[in-house]
Amino acid sequence: MRIAIIGSGYVGLVTGGCLAEIGHEVICADNDEEKLNILAAGRLPIYEPHLDKIVAENRRAGRLSFTGDVAAAVRFGDAIFISVGTPPLETGDADLSAIDRVARVIAESAQSPKLVIEKSTVPVQTGQQLKRALTVYGRTAGVPFRVASNPEFLREGTAVLDFLHPDRIVVGVEDEQTEQQLREIYQPILDQKFNCPVHTQQCPPATPPFVVTTINSSELIKHASNSFLALKISYANALADLCDRLGANIDEVTRAMGYDPRIGPHFLRAGLGFGGFCLPKDIQAFIRLAERAGVDFRLLKEVENINKQRLDRFLDLVRHALWVLVEKQIGILGLAFKPNTDDIRFAPAIEIIRRLCAEGARIRAYDPQAMERTRALFPDLQFGADAYEVACDADALLIVTDWQEFLTLDWNRIRDRMARPLVIDGRNLLDPATMRNLGFEYYSMGRPS
Ligand SMILES: NC(=O)c1ccc[n+]([C@@H]2O[C@H](COP(=O)([O-])OP(=O)(O)OC[C@H]3O[C@@H](n4cnc5c(N)ncnc54)[C@H](O)[C@@H]3O)[C@@H](O)[C@H]2O)c1
Repeated sequence: MRIAIIGSGYVGLVTGGCLAEIGHEVICADNDEEKLNILAAGRLPIYEPHLDKIVAENRRAGRLSFTGDVAAAVRFGDAIFISVGTPPLETGDADLSAIDRVARVIAESAQSPKLVIEKSTVPVQTGQQLKRALTVYGRTAGVPFRVASNPEFLREGTAVLDFLHPDRIVVGVEDEQTEQQLREIYQPILDQKFNCPVHTQQCPPATPPFVVTTINSSELIKHASNSFLALKISYANALADLCDRLGANIDEVTRAMGYDPRIGPHFLRAGLGFGGFCLPKDIQAFIRLAERAGVDFRLLKEVENINKQRLDRFLDLVRHALWVLVEKQIGILGLAFKPNTDDIRFAPAIEIIRRLCAEGARIRAYDPQAMERTRALFPDLQFGADAYEVACDADALLIVTDWQEFLTLDWNRIRDRMARPLVIDGRNLLDPATMRNLGFEYYSMGRPS
């Protein structure tokens, strides 16, 4: 099938690359010139494991291309995925202006019937507004449009695998033809019949459920899922505070809880809380949606509050350990909102750096992938080439992202380089007993010494 992707960021590039990989002809469009220049030079504007190989191979095979001409991409695609950003407004509502802008281009440039698919995360009833907008903006051309919702559940860091081996594919549709067309798009994934470019061994045989719903339900499923994940994290974090006060260990508590299949082991890691471009903004948008619908969803406000307090708790630990922060040399390990990505949107590290700098601390930071993006935000910040450089003469090291490589550092070497062997672990990444045996003063969250 001929597919256009409008918005070539974390979701659009993975969607475009993977749909080309399973055999479709794909054009990805974007209006960000810098991104397009990077793509034109044969590189990727984001870091996502395996994506570079998929994009390069499908470009070479002629199944995948990139353009700044959104109208041309619209004319090319029989199906058009909208994957532009939906960032939060001041009010917490999702900013849908990019979707509106794309709707206008689609309506004004389409010359044949189109299936328009919302891939971006949007509040319930956006599909209805989108349908109306396409009709209004395109009324002179008279081209028929069908609208569908197909929320994306990929996780940055494992996005390619998540897209090719999803837990479920959800489509919100209003007619059988649309359902059929979406089934065709995803058929190789539904049958798990393609050569997985990531797995060297055989891929997991499980075929994902294809969940067909109304457009409203489909839109709600995405917000409901993300809010539930946020709730699990905040629950574990509230428990961690209890553990700190009462002398229990959060790792032991959540490990045992996770064996209950009704609870499950995932998303119960205590620490600095959730960040990134999805959970924080989606929970805000969901709270606003419930408010406007007259539904009391205070539960989610509490989830958000608990998450906001994580940074205060962490910085209290830092102050408790270091006392006065003025002129203290602090090393930050990890800037991305989670490991295996370069994404720093709503990353705890950004706020931590801001607050520590405001209190007069001297910061040196390291992240395996996210330093370039962070430099753009903090041009004067010092960076280290690796964790060892960051540790040099540091009064404290803060673990802010749980990159695997921090687990396997030579901690003896780190200790010897530091002015004071103090580690404050915001992700409960390291083992407290091991760190103390190595001679560190070590603090983490919900694991009292
Ligand atoms: N990042 C994730 O892990 C993830 C996962 C699931 C869903 N989502 C949702 O997917 C959507 C996109 O997220 P993302 O992380 O890919 O964002 P992103 O910022 O990385 O990508 C959005 C892209 O859209 C482009 N764009 C904006 N307006 C445009 C326009 N008018 N015409 C053409 N291009 C335009 C931007 O330049 C950008 O490259 C959001 O709604 C997000 O909530 C994200």
